[in-house]
Amino acid sequence: MSKARKTSSDKVRIFDTTLRDGEQTPGVNITPDQKIQIAIKLDELGVDAIEAGFPIVSQGEMQAIKAIALQGLKAEVCGLARAIQSDIDSAIKCDLKYVHTFIATSDIHMQYKLKMTPQQVMDSAVNAVEYAKKHGMQVEFSAEDATRSDRQFLLKVFKAVTEAGADRVDIPDTVGYRTPDYIAQIVKDVKGATDLPISVHCHNDFGLAVANAIAGINAGAACAHVTINGLGERAGNASLEEFVMALEILYNKKHNINAKLIYETSKFVSNTMGIMVQPNKAIIGENAFGHESGIHTHGIINNPLTYEPIAPEIVGRKRWMQAGKHAGAHGIRAMLEDFGIKPTDEQLHKIVEKQKNIADKGKAITTSELLSIAGEMMNNTKFEEKFKLYDFHIVTGMNLIPTAVVRLNADGKDFIASDIGVGPVDAALKAIQKISGELANVKIREYRLDSISGGSDALAEVTVKVEDKNGNVVSAKKAGEDIVVASVQAMMDAINKVLLRKVLYSKS
Ligand code: KIV
Ligand code: ZN
Repeated sequence: MSKARKTSSDKVRIFDTTLRDGEQTPGVNITPDQKIQIAIKLDELGVDAIEAGFPIVSQGEMQAIKAIALQGLKAEVCGLARAIQSDIDSAIKCDLKYVHTFIATSDIHMQYKLKMTPQQVMDSAVNAVEYAKKHGMQVEFSAEDATRSDRQFLLKVFKAVTEAGADRVDIPDTVGYRTPDYIAQIVKDVKGATDLPISVHCHNDFGLAVANAIAGINAGAACAHVTINGLGERAGNASLEEFVMALEILYNKKHNINAKLIYETSKFVSNTMGIMVQPNKAIIGENAFGHESGIHTHGIINNPLTYEPIAPEIVGRKRWMQAGKHAGAHGIRAMLEDFGIKPTDEQLHKIVEKQKNIADKGKAITTSELLSIAGEMMNNTKFEEKFKLYDFHIVTGMNLIPTAVVRLNADGKDFIASDIGVGPVDAALKAIQKISGELANVKIREYRLDSISGGSDALAEVTVKVEDKNGNVVSAKKAGEDIVVASVQAMMDAINKVLLRKVLYSKS
């Protein structure tokens, strides 16, 4: 019995192209091993098909695609091939059973890129499909730039590849040039030309990729090509997270995705590919389930659905609240009461005053910071820092293994630890984690470095986000000219916040 995941006809097929179109994101370059790890994550997430790459581009790419094809994943694995035999041969050499072959059908591409006549394009498309079918492949055919192609010619090409034996056809909106109405109409027209299942492949150049993909599905397409975090050429592709959740929640459609793994997969891809997700990105952005204003936090405390369209847990996330300058005394009291902290009216007034003072200086305050202000204003020594740094030193250079030694006091006891790392920051943070382990076992979820000013003496801001063993995520920021010092301070701060949470949650 094959392990292959079946997309029943009542479910929308999710074709993930993170490892192909997503890998074409400017600045992304990952190793074969990293590609395999991402493919495994995508399979766990529940995608129906994984476009593992473009076999002809390099030996390393072929190696990775072959390894993915042989993983025994539930998802179908395919590779991209231009409509030429050598590309299809490369896909066959990867042990793939499924090829996604394409050729452009728009006048601009045929004339300026391919330098081919429409008849030559038609012949190449048919020959490629016949050749791949002769080699026992499942074939998905894409008419690149379909949405800017002459409609009659496009339909003729789709008819011809259908007769040549293709299994699926795809309509790429290659430069994200179209609107939902247009995509709906083109899908209907293609449905009139072929009985094959239709995919839509929408790029995001005008921010319409997800809306266009949904319009395609509502007009009768069976499948959408999507990427994790919306990665892809230029402005990217339709984002899997947004597409799947909008489809399910707003259109009541079914799919095979395990939504609870969405956030984890997004983080994994972002960390592996080195492309940050913008904070206000729907579903997966840092702020998607974060609340700041007093009115909102008050509403959320009474009933989360007042200001959230879905519960964050549905996509594997947790809600967080931040006490910014818009937070009111009512919201702050409720946030503190949630931790079992009951300030008097006078104490609350002082806490709100201090918190607004900090917020007015343009600094964001997290829940943990609010708790530590509360500790200060309520003279509660339980909130004192448990982790205090004495000193640290680092040895680093070329042809040397970066090594760090840290000395600190943890809950009244002195410790010294050393570790090595891929760089000085990595070595220092690992040494700190060696000591923190018993008190606060944390995993680093995110490390970010932003340059605040220019020049080699630039002020840098480090953000460290750590997760404790209960899944609570705490973040700390530190700015300074020395990146290693700022990183160590941010890490110490984050661990102190985790310990503070522990004390407060124990409500003793
Ligand atoms: O955007 C596009 O047209 C593509 C094709 C290769 C399908 O990615
Ligand atoms: Zn594309």
